Amino acid sequence: MYFRQFRVDDAQLLFELDSDPEVMRFISNGQPTPLAQIQDVIIPRFLDYYKESPPRGFWAAHLRDTTEFMGWFHLRPGAISREEVDLGYRLKRSVWRRGLATEGSRALIKKVFDDWGYQKITAHTMAVNLASRRVLEKAGLRVEREFHYGGATLGNWIIGEEHRAVKYSVTRTEFSRQSP
Ligand SMILES: CC(C)(COP(=O)(O)OP(=O)(O)OC[C@H]1O[C@@H](n2cnc3c(N)ncnc32)[C@H](O)[C@@H]1OP(=O)(O)O)[C@@H](O)C(=O)NCCC(=O)NCCS
Repeated sequence: MYFRQFRVDDAQLLFELDSDPEVMRFISNGQPTPLAQIQDVIIPRFLDYYKESPPRGFWAAHLRDTTEFMGWFHLRPGAISREEVDLGYRLKRSVWRRGLATEGSRALIKKVFDDWGYQKITAHTMAVNLASRRVLEKAGLRVEREFHYGGATLGNWIIGEEHRAVKYSVTRTEFSRQSP
């Protein structure tokens, strides 16, 4: 795969990605993201991230052989500590289970440690999102702690046990000790 920065004319690609209820299952209970929100809020936010140095943010991912858009990965400033970089991903269902989320995550983690010089990468996922948890484990991250997302974050659709979330992390030293 290869990565590129998002552009203002990518709204339709993002709209199609977020219109698959399976893709959005653990993000919005399957609800699509409105096109207007993508155009007016999400893409401007993506473009703002690139102004930072190094240009952290959201990266469009394409299949190298066909150039097809396959989804995105993010490496954005950590919500709690700006010394941490937060990893995330959202891929089209047509490319799932081919090892691509793992491959992309590992490539980006290497970039963060080797080229950007950060010391720690974090990631957050719903505890019930087994696919995402497995990707993080295969990419070299380990559980740091469990927590609960507040109702304000997720609305009312997710309750009780399913509210549990997990923070994963890996430091530069830990990652360098792992076999490739
Ligand atoms: C999470 C996601 C990115 C995984 O992408 P992917 O390219 O299919 O992942 P990989 O092919 O690299 O798979 C990595 C591991 O996860 C496992 N896995 C994938 N989907 C799974 C599922 N639904 N349930 C359990 N394990 C799953 C794979 O089998 C593989 O493990 P293995 O090698 O031991 O068999 C993809 O499912 C997705 O985009 N989901 C919707 C968006 C989302 O939930 N993002 C994360 C929000 S925190």
